Amino acid sequence: MAKTKVAFLCLVLLSFSYASNDYGFSEEEVSAFTNPYVVTSVVSNTGGVTVQAQYQAPADLETPASEQIITNLAITIQYDNPYRVRFTMTDANNARWQVPNAIPSYTPSGAGSFYSLAPIVVGQPLSIKITRTTDNKVVFFLNPSQPFGYNNQDIGFANWLGYPIKVMGLGERISSFVLAQGSYTLYARDRGSPIDTGDTPDSNMYSSQPFYLAVDNQLAAHGGLFLNSNAMTAFVGSNFVGFRTTGGIIDFFLFIGPQPADVINQYHDLIGYPTLVPWWGLGWHQCRYGFQNISVVSSVTTSYTTYNLPLDAMWIDIDYMNQYQDFTLDPVNFPQASFTTWVTNLKAANKHFVPIVDAGIAQSAGYSVYNSGLNPNVYITSAYKNVPTTGVVWPGVSVFVDWFNPNANAFWTGQLTKFNTLTSFSGIWIDMNEASNFVNGEPGHPPSQITNLTMPYTPGQDVNDNSIDVASIHYGGILEYNVHSLFGFGETMATYQYFKGLNLRPFIITRSSFVGTGRYAGKWTGDNFSQWSFLAYSITGLFDLGMFGIPFAGADICGFQGNTNEELCSRWMQLGTLYPFSRNHNAKGSVDQYPWSFGSTLLQTSNIAIRTKYSLLLHFATGMFRVSLMGGMHFRPAFFDYPNDINLLNNATSHFMLGEGLIVHPCLWPGVTGSTSYFPYDLWYDFYQGTYMQLNYYNSAYLNMTLPGPIPIHIKGGYIVPTLDNSNTALDTISLRKSPITLVVALNGAFQADGHAVFDDGLSINSLSGNLYTMINYHYQYVNATTDTLIIQPTISGYTRANGEFPYISNIIIYGCVEGIRNVFYTTTAFSGQLNPVFLLWNPNTSVCKIILSSSRQLVLPDMAGQLTINFYL
Ligand SMILES: *[C@@H]1O[C@H](CO)[C@@H](O)[C@H](O)[C@H]1NC(C)=O
Ligand SMILES: *[C@@H]1O[C@H](CO)[C@@H](O)[C@H](O)[C@H]1NC(C)=O
Ligand SMILES: *[C@@H]1O[C@H](CO)[C@@H](O)[C@H](O)[C@H]1NC(C)=O
Ligand SMILES: *[C@@H]1O[C@H](CO)[C@@H](O)[C@H](O)[C@H]1NC(C)=O
Ligand SMILES: *[C@@H]1O[C@H](CO)[C@@H](O)[C@H](O)[C@H]1NC(C)=O
Ligand SMILES: *[C@@H]1O[C@H](CO)[C@@H](O)[C@H](O)[C@H]1NC(C)=O
Ligand SMILES: *[C@@H]1O[C@H](CO)[C@@H](O)[C@H](O)[C@H]1NC(C)=O
Repeated sequence: MAKTKVAFLCLVLLSFSYASNDYGFSEEEVSAFTNPYVVTSVVSNTGGVTVQAQYQAPADLETPASEQIITNLAITIQYDNPYRVRFTMTDANNARWQVPNAIPSYTPSGAGSFYSLAPIVVGQPLSIKITRTTDNKVVFFLNPSQPFGYNNQDIGFANWLGYPIKVMGLGERISSFVLAQGSYTLYARDRGSPIDTGDTPDSNMYSSQPFYLAVDNQLAAHGGLFLNSNAMTAFVGSNFVGFRTTGGIIDFFLFIGPQPADVINQYHDLIGYPTLVPWWGLGWHQCRYGFQNISVVSSVTTSYTTYNLPLDAMWIDIDYMNQYQDFTLDPVNFPQASFTTWVTNLKAANKHFVPIVDAGIAQSAGYSVYNSGLNPNVYITSAYKNVPTTGVVWPGVSVFVDWFNPNANAFWTGQLTKFNTLTSFSGIWIDMNEASNFVNGEPGHPPSQITNLTMPYTPGQDVNDNSIDVASIHYGGILEYNVHSLFGFGETMATYQYFKGLNLRPFIITRSSFVGTGRYAGKWTGDNFSQWSFLAYSITGLFDLGMFGIPFAGADICGFQGNTNEELCSRWMQLGTLYPFSRNHNAKGSVDQYPWSFGSTLLQTSNIAIRTKYSLLLHFATGMFRVSLMGGMHFRPAFFDYPNDINLLNNATSHFMLGEGLIVHPCLWPGVTGSTSYFPYDLWYDFYQGTYMQLNYYNSAYLNMTLPGPIPIHIKGGYIVPTLDNSNTALDTISLRKSPITLVVALNGAFQADGHAVFDDGLSINSLSGNLYTMINYHYQYVNATTDTLIIQPTISGYTRANGEFPYISNIIIYGCVEGIRNVFYTTTAFSGQLNPVFLLWNPNTSVCKIILSSSRQLVLPDMAGQLTINFYL
């Protein structure tokens, strides 16, 4: 009895049931365990520690035949920098699969004083313990008395903290933001909307994102990345996080924290900051699956103008294709001539076209795209003969580009170039790239040579389910088994090359992602349901993608599957227009959900919502630019800004921040016209009216959420947000760039406020790397009882505004303004004088001052260094 138990414990590692204790064994059984790898050598230096460990089978061990134990482990513990430790454990004798490309190369800079590694002792079972020195907390513990296994296709380890934690991350799935204790599968999979509560193993979706953030009871945080592309399970316990994977190596990065936002920044420092997105990409997008023909697309486009609603891009799903073949137009319903007329008019109206491109390439003798990929061959090869492996997707039997093949990029960018002459697209939507397969493995070859029957451990589902046969072979002999979850990442990198070749920021929306995808693309959350619960889950989805370094993200607004209704769609328009990526998309056969499809409630709410986004477009562009410059998140949990307030984490989706200065309370419930809403402890003003938020004893206030109407947004005292006046009339973001700017200045208790604006051409890929942008700091401060100043200071001036762009600051609106303004002087190096005439308005009831500067437009440029001196009556 004891014999089999030890073997089981060792190999089945962490098959937790949460009933008795965290991993389903009695205390006695667990206490019997020691790590079977014994340290045989340790070499320490300032950069880290190198360790050898050898498998020493416990005397009573029985090993099932399917397990191939790796007997000698080569281990490195590397001090990457003062906030990050990396350790790798691999077979000392044989090369194993390791993930390429996910993280940019870097030079380790040494440990600093924020963590310390406990001594590793020769002759003892393997143990790694890292303590954060600022609070003496263990932030990583490979506990030698807990299960550990290193077999060829079954590797398991855990970080045993010994104190309670709340865990976030570990995508992709639909779940609460703080994950319930349980097990979570990570494997790219085309799977429609399972809600994952940690108790159903195969509830994983499109991406694999093996990063977690853990927060303890004192609200200190650390994070971990298990950089491994194989199908795996992550285990979230009350006081540990564990992983069990089916291949590759242990390559683990520990992020020391100690606050959640620190962990996120430390993670983004590793994986690289996200790509810039084009200015138009932040505008409003309309899509639908089931457009019958180009006339219908055209009439939807026209309706936007008819209803006087802004629109930046029209999208078409697979409907436009000839027999669902990539890079073709259906000659019957989307004939070239009509298509060209439509897209020409669309572009003349400052709008863009974004088509879907699917992963599977139809295997059809007369299809030129397929043929051109055969010579040279760029496809993944069958496990059974030297021909492309196949699957079945929308166009029928299909082959798949092997992104590891050095000829794949030229093939792909060549196809996109040709496709652009056909359709004049501005962005690309890459779908089905898990890669999805409607059958399991290769048609005609069931079952695969590698299945849940040959694998010692299967995380939740057979790895061939809706996948290319995992025994298929990539360039250089790489097995699909190891790289299945990297397909979407590879496709994203190749698609990026197309845009880079044109010096354009990529507009790429992908469904599947991996660690590092954000450097190349944005993402949508996939095929949602038109249900209230998914409205709230979309906030979790965006928080997760932001943590994963993919901030340009959004969910299908009004919901994808099933029928939406006017109220749900109105609420989704309010919320969705504040996603960084805002697209209304709908399934074939579902009722229409355009802004005009129901009634005046939806139409008016949509108009307010889209125009609110457009008024904040410079704020979004600035926030997204800053994330590309230094990592972090723009759309983010309020808890990350107020890490001492656990209420914000317990109720994480009822509010979110847009940068440091704005908090949003979406309405996520049917039949509601308002809600008592929680605020972080701070000074908040209604963003639209400037009225000060009077919070009750519980930091709450009742917010009016009547429809039609705007979504509640509040600005924090101490922040300045630039808004765009033309959002009232603009029908696209190109004309929005001609807008004067109103600065909304919300004063804190010291009568101060700060803000930023970034100006660039909104299109070039090298705006950041070439310093072709202008970054303005706005700083408002108290001088004396009768005087305040607003200082406009460029920190970088690499962009010259084109003629008519952002011509002047039209208004300065001051919230928390307790005195009337007497006059305003403006000083630059070139000019000094009274701004005359100016309109100076003051509402003592709301403490809002308004300085109207329009008549002096040539003087107050948004990006020219200058100082406004504001004199108040006393
Ligand atoms: C396009 O589809 C719509 C809706 O099915 C139909 O009413 C219309 O006749 C079609 N137009 C053309 C030109 O095929
Ligand atoms: C193995 O995979 C097959 C095919 O997907 C599935 O029907 C079966 O339930 C799986 N068995 C186990 C033990 O996971
Ligand atoms: C739907 O909803 C959530 C939130 O947007 C998201 O995390 C998920 O990926 C979406 N996709 C599916 C298939 O439900
Ligand atoms: C979460 O927020 C909602 C809406 O503000 C509120 O009704 C609910 O009571 C809150 N729940 C908790 C646990 O604070
Ligand atoms: C609530 O908001 C609606 C829509 O914006 C507005 O018409 C109404 O006057 C507001 N009610 C209150 C009590 O502020
Ligand atoms: C306040 O500061 C302004 C600008 O420096 C100065 O001109 C003015 O005299 C000061 N007033 C008082 C009362 O100190
Ligand atoms: C301020 O409130 C008073 C009393 O309600 C009202 O008479 C006055 O018009 C208000 N002032 C402004 C500028 O709204």
